[in-house]
Amino acid sequence: MKFLTTKWILPVLLSLVTIPRLHAQNLSTNAPDQRDAVPATIHPLKATGIENFYQLSGKIFSGSSPEGDAAFADLQARGIKTIITVDGAKPDVEAARRHGIRYVHLPFGYDGVPTNQAIRLVKAAETLPGPIFVHCHHGLHRGPAGAAVICMGMEGWTPEEAVSWLRLAGTATNYPGLYKTVGAFHPPSAEALKAVPEDFPETSPVPPLADIMVQIDERFDHLKLIKKAGYHPPASNPDLDPAHEALLLDELFKELARSPIAEKRGADFQGKLARAEQEASELHASLMLVPTADLKADASFQRLNDTCAACHKAHRN
Ligand code: HEC
Repeated sequence: MKFLTTKWILPVLLSLVTIPRLHAQNLSTNAPDQRDAVPATIHPLKATGIENFYQLSGKIFSGSSPEGDAAFADLQARGIKTIITVDGAKPDVEAARRHGIRYVHLPFGYDGVPTNQAIRLVKAAETLPGPIFVHCHHGLHRGPAGAAVICMGMEGWTPEEAVSWLRLAGTATNYPGLYKTVGAFHPPSAEALKAVPEDFPETSPVPPLADIMVQIDERFDHLKLIKKAGYHPPASNPDLDPAHEALLLDELFKELARSPIAEKRGADFQGKLARAEQEASELHASLMLVPTADLKADASFQRLNDTCAACHKAHRN
């Protein structure tokens, strides 16, 4: 038993030490000048109830979801007129209104900013009154990507500057889709912008559970192929990154847990959802250790599979 424990712990400890180092090496070899590319207009801010808060330009701010009245009061004191959230959760439209601020809800996922949503973001930022605060949940990944697209569209940021901003904001390289969108984004033409309707929604409807399940199922199908290939990218689908697929599945469960759907479905559903999220997170952790942890991944995969079935049995009619 002691031997088994040590065998399991050692790779975990090693990964903790080596993974950050590998990332650091990649960054420094691939992009030695990234630091210099950070736009000089960016500076960090502090506020109660807002994490990872930055001013990016005269008109654009970025950060986490404002928590509590003090956070909205801070935004108001800075003159913010519009908040754009790219998070899946329903925004606190009322709290913003009390401080004379209007919300716009243009959500997207962790796999990247769809082109039509990127164009809407730019149009919203250009046409709605500023300054504008852009946020997601923690202000680390999707929010900074949304703000980057906006700054490329209206502040003339280059792709290098936008990518440097993501690194500064702490956007995890685990979300290559966000980096890819930002690195490849071309500011929309005047014509493309003109075609976007100006009726930006204060809240966007959360997709029905069945639609979220279809996305969950798609990630799980990818993971089945990955498992069959011994936890490597499958030959039929060589672009699939095992750990990344598990991470995106985990994020889908997390976002569902924060949605009104989970609230309405009640405690048993929420408990089963929490289990599924935990198993997806553990599968992600084991897939980071491949090929040393095939057995552990097998067990995680099986438990995840069981959580799908358990919830369907109780809650799917
Ligand atoms: C916490 C509960 C819960 C968990 C966990 C869960 N599901 Fe579901 N799933 C549901 C419910 C409820 C429905 C029915 C939704 C409806 O039809 O409105 C559903 C529906 C589905 C559907 C049918 C979608 C359609 O086209 O109508 C698929 C496919 C699916 N789930 C896959 C999965 C997979 C794969 C997993 C695990 C990786 C999983 N689900 C985990 C609750 C859950």
